[in-house]
Amino acid sequence: MLCRLLLDTQFGFLGPFLVAATIVEFRAPFWLVRAPFRLVTACVELARIMAHVGMVSSSYSLGEKVRLFHMQEIDHSYNMSIHARLEREKKRVETLTQLFANDPMMSANIERGEMFGSLEFIVRVGVGSPPHYQYLVFDTGSDLIWFQCQPCDRCYSQINPIYDPIKSNTYREASCLSTKCQLLNQHSCKNQHCVYKMGYGDRSSSEGVLGFETFIFGNTTFSNVAFGCGYKNKGTFLNFAGILGFGGEDLSFVGQLGEKGRTFSYCLVDPKSTSFGWLHVGEEAITPGAVWSPLVYNPRANSAHYYVDFLGLSVGDIRVPISEQVFQLSNTGKGGVVLDTGTLVTRFPKPAYNAFRDAFIAQTQHIPRVHGVSLFDTCYNITSIQYTMLPKISFHFAGGPILVLMANNILVEVEDSNILCFAFAPSPNDLSIIGSIAQQKIQITIDGQAGRIGFGPQNCASKQI
Ligand SMILES: *[C@@H]1O[C@H](CO)[C@@H](O)[C@H](O)[C@H]1NC(C)=O
Ligand SMILES: *[C@@H]1O[C@H](CO)[C@@H](O)[C@H](O)[C@H]1NC(C)=O
Ligand SMILES: *[C@@H]1O[C@H](CO)[C@@H](O)[C@H](O)[C@H]1NC(C)=O
Repeated sequence: MLCRLLLDTQFGFLGPFLVAATIVEFRAPFWLVRAPFRLVTACVELARIMAHVGMVSSSYSLGEKVRLFHMQEIDHSYNMSIHARLEREKKRVETLTQLFANDPMMSANIERGEMFGSLEFIVRVGVGSPPHYQYLVFDTGSDLIWFQCQPCDRCYSQINPIYDPIKSNTYREASCLSTKCQLLNQHSCKNQHCVYKMGYGDRSSSEGVLGFETFIFGNTTFSNVAFGCGYKNKGTFLNFAGILGFGGEDLSFVGQLGEKGRTFSYCLVDPKSTSFGWLHVGEEAITPGAVWSPLVYNPRANSAHYYVDFLGLSVGDIRVPISEQVFQLSNTGKGGVVLDTGTLVTRFPKPAYNAFRDAFIAQTQHIPRVHGVSLFDTCYNITSIQYTMLPKISFHFAGGPILVLMANNILVEVEDSNILCFAFAPSPNDLSIIGSIAQQKIQITIDGQAGRIGFGPQNCASKQI
């Protein structure tokens, strides 16, 4: 613990040297002479472990569940048409697919976020002491937590007042040499400040200083959470204070909660639904009855995204003839299937999409088709009776899970309420993306510690907050 405090707070990376010196003097002076380097390394390791254990055990027990709002529930001016939402996500999909198509070694020298896209799910968190409550966007596709900070150099307008570190007793700045600062893909030191720059594919960005703050999530207080205090922000973030990164790397909100904290489950719910969306963090998020499939690690993509081991799909009871190879991550890091809360429409590589769509059309001959709308090529003029007669669609995952999609995961309403389109599209390359429409009303659990993803058992409607 001493190591951690020294490491993360006052002394930055000098911490281990001071601790090493103390231990050495106290216990075994000759080690300092013989193997000072090893001792320092050991202390860095100890500090790393303690940072995890310390945070988990001090403030965090079994789990905490909060409401996951849709933007429309919080910001009543959010009245975007489906076309506008699809336009936003188009750029995210482009960035996402280009990102993994390129050599990761060539990645830009800024922290990357995929286009803001269709990130539409929001959590309310308290930041600082006394807590300043604000809404942050839940993103499983990025790591860094950041939000707008006073005094703004440039800020966009947001629903809640902008957080001001001066008004908090628990804010402190991260030293340039602190472990958290080193975790940024790119960090720079300006006048001793650890400066981050988060860039999005649509030229949205956030720039500021890395700091530590107390976060209140549900009823649980987490101290020393590293976040970006953004003084210069621009772009398409709508009216929300910033991003709560839930990606798989160490800087994300769950990444900072230690091994046990890498577990969370969520339920995305359409704003029209009568049930609540929620986000549950911690061990308790692992619900008995879920079915599990391994997460896939992509060592080549320096990315926060969760890859799943997807094998194929069925329409009705018929397996669509697509080689499993089509969905596999290649050893050059290309292809694969990511789960993304910031993309609405699920994308599959073109040949897979075509086979899937044709299989769906073959089993929906009884419903009148209409012309395609925006990126959708398969749309129906549908009545509620026909809606209940749709063939079921199943996603097959390695390890056995079969995810059965409901009508609300398969068709999306466009233009007027009678016109519904097949909510899937071809991917620009061999990366597949499982978007938020297909995830709606399905309890999804990420168990980062065990490296697996769980589906169910809830359909989300019955779970109380
Ligand atoms: C959305 O709401 C704003 C004001 O709240 C209004 O100016 C705008 O025209 C609306 N847009 C649509 C597409 O309804
Ligand atoms: C969280 O706090 C609220 C009030 O602040 C209380 O009503 C609720 O029961 C608490 N939840 C838990 C799980 O302790
Ligand atoms: C959809 O069907 C209804 C009758 O069932 C019809 O009145 C309407 O014009 C149709 N809409 C389109 C776009 O074809």
